[in-house]
Amino acid sequence: MIILGIESSCDETATAIVEDGQFLLSQAIESQVDIHAQYGGVVPEVASRSHLEAVIPVVSIAIKKAFPGVDKNAAWGKIDAIAVSHGPGLSGGLLVGTLTARTLAMIYSKPLYGINHVLGHTYANWLSDKQPEFPVLSLTASGGHTQLVLLESHTDYKLLGQTRDDAAGEAFDKVAKMLGLPYPGGPNIAQAAQKGDPTKYKLPKASMDNKYDFSFSGLKTAVLRKLQIEIGGSNATLSTQIADKLTDQQVYDFAASFQQTVVETLTGKLLKANEEFAPESIVIGGGVAANQQLRDHLSTQGLPKLSYTDIALCTDNAAMIACLAYYQSQYQEPVAIDDLLVSPSLSL
Ligand code: KG4
Ligand code: ZN
Repeated sequence: MIILGIESSCDETATAIVEDGQFLLSQAIESQVDIHAQYGGVVPEVASRSHLEAVIPVVSIAIKKAFPGVDKNAAWGKIDAIAVSHGPGLSGGLLVGTLTARTLAMIYSKPLYGINHVLGHTYANWLSDKQPEFPVLSLTASGGHTQLVLLESHTDYKLLGQTRDDAAGEAFDKVAKMLGLPYPGGPNIAQAAQKGDPTKYKLPKASMDNKYDFSFSGLKTAVLRKLQIEIGGSNATLSTQIADKLTDQQVYDFAASFQQTVVETLTGKLLKANEEFAPESIVIGGGVAANQQLRDHLSTQGLPKLSYTDIALCTDNAAMIACLAYYQSQYQEPVAIDDLLVSPSLSL
């Protein structure tokens, strides 16, 4: 079964064509990172307009790449279904993707599947020769979500815990801003951290009532307090007044100490859940799962059942959406085209 996936929930307009939930035939991604970097973060209205301009071209590119030399109608004939992220995410972007998917499904008479973007991140791990075996313990850490999920099967899954405030990626982005590093914060903090001392600044790890929940807001505030002290400021010093008073080495050390704290927090929860639920596979997904320090640290923890997906499939992409749609199609009827609405706060 060949599925065309569409993803537009944040700042990437992405399409992909995936066969049988495993084989990536093609993908096309139009990233808006350079546009949003000027503003230090994603501006929703700007994102929606960019999605609108990019969505049809990226559909065409993915189709041409998957079926080279085949004419357009014949290529559409090879596509069995269309899948789209319809939530959670930014409503304008979701609307562009969802309405495009609905329109294409109507024009080309294809079954349509609405996909949960965050669960999609977990399914990036099925785009591999060695597919995860159930029960699967999944950690997703992205710019909007941080959650631990136990999947007993493709249809039976349980949310073990999630963030109570900021997502892990969001914390990377906000701390990067304080340090004067560009958006997106994650890769830039990771790069700065390579030259820093992760033990230089002692930062707190939140302790939660539900041991599988996360909280990164206190960590972000702790970084701010330490930065204020470091530059001889006070509690009233604004986070925007700090970066140009820091030396390069201070930036590197803060980046390394912050990254280490997030890495240890994520690893600690994953280890606890592994002990309690003894899964057959452990997977990680979402933009923060691209973090090399997280991968290096996890690989020293004696977790033989842990596997990693391709780094390029951790950040937002449409392959994971088409992949999840394949499994969803085995157990669920497609949605009626007019019934598929965007759901910006969709949960599991
Ligand atoms: O999954 P994703 O592409 O989009 C959302 O669904 O949010 O994740 C984006 C987030 C951003 O916060 C970004 O800073 C973070 O993932 N990120 C990273 C890395 N690459 C992206 N965080 C840490 N290390 C990285 N290498
Ligand atoms: Zn995402």
